[in-house]
Amino acid sequence: MKIIRTKAELRNLTDSWRRAGESIGVVPTMGALHAGHLSLVERACADNDRVIVTLFVNPKQFNNPEDLAKYPRTEHSDAEKLTPYGVDVLYVPDGSQMYPEGFATTISVTGVSEGLCGGARPGHFDGVATVVTKLFLQCDADRAYFGEKDYQQLQVVIRLAKDLDLKTQIVGCPTIREEDGLAMSSRNLRLTAGPRETAPVIAQVLEDAARAIARGGHVTQILYEAREALLSAGFDTVDYLELRSDPDLQLMTRADRASRLFLAAWIDGVRLIDNVSVAGL
Ligand code: PAJ
Repeated sequence: MKIIRTKAELRNLTDSWRRAGESIGVVPTMGALHAGHLSLVERACADNDRVIVTLFVNPKQFNNPEDLAKYPRTEHSDAEKLTPYGVDVLYVPDGSQMYPEGFATTISVTGVSEGLCGGARPGHFDGVATVVTKLFLQCDADRAYFGEKDYQQLQVVIRLAKDLDLKTQIVGCPTIREEDGLAMSSRNLRLTAGPRETAPVIAQVLEDAARAIARGGHVTQILYEAREALLSAGFDTVDYLELRSDPDLQLMTRADRASRLFLAAWIDGVRLIDNVSVAGL
């Protein structure tokens, strides 16, 4: 696996792959790789002749400078984790490659980016949309892989690829969980022992609520009780716990079409997110 840091060097390589008629898959990440990321890498390697994993901690998608500063930077161990998969390139651009002096363009997706994490983190999805568009073009990607763990992000990226006529096909991949059900995330490492034990309650509460909604229960009541269950289990705040249509992410109060439950909650100073599908519709 080659480590490439400039878009010029990356373009030389992708052009040579193109001339050989090879397909290119890309897995955009911010590093601190875990089994969730690696499941996307595995899928990309199965689907494409060539695979690029990108590692860029994108300042434009952080609305909190402290969060950006605290983000783990573990390039060396990330590269080691990728070695067994047959990845061709780890692309690690720096800020000047991505946002050179004078950079002035923002990609902004309306609709699916509103509410949920878009409400709690203003500007976040503009930052994501802008960086992934650049990464798709820099990598000349035929396919790009995203986790359902960040389901709203996945829908934002699907929308922008469609709207901008990008050739990159967006592939959504299932959420990978720890044995106790907690969705894998680099943030889980910031939890101290007690809160780490409490954290999987998120997945249980979401699954129970999804089942109750699928059985025809009263949505508002079920969500109220689920929120109470989280707070009494030890969560400090629930940013949102909502039923949204799938895939257009409209707020729903009755489960009368395909839907998912979305949650963001704080414990131990860490914001955790998760989502599950409501079966049956
Ligand atoms: P990051 O948080 O590093 O995640 C990279 C990819 O891994 C995303 O598509 C995310 O949904 C996926 N992922 C994370 N945890 C997962 C899990 N437990 N199961 C399955 N997939 C999981 O998301 C970003 O980076 C950034 O916003 C990025 C798209 C790279 C743009 O900067």
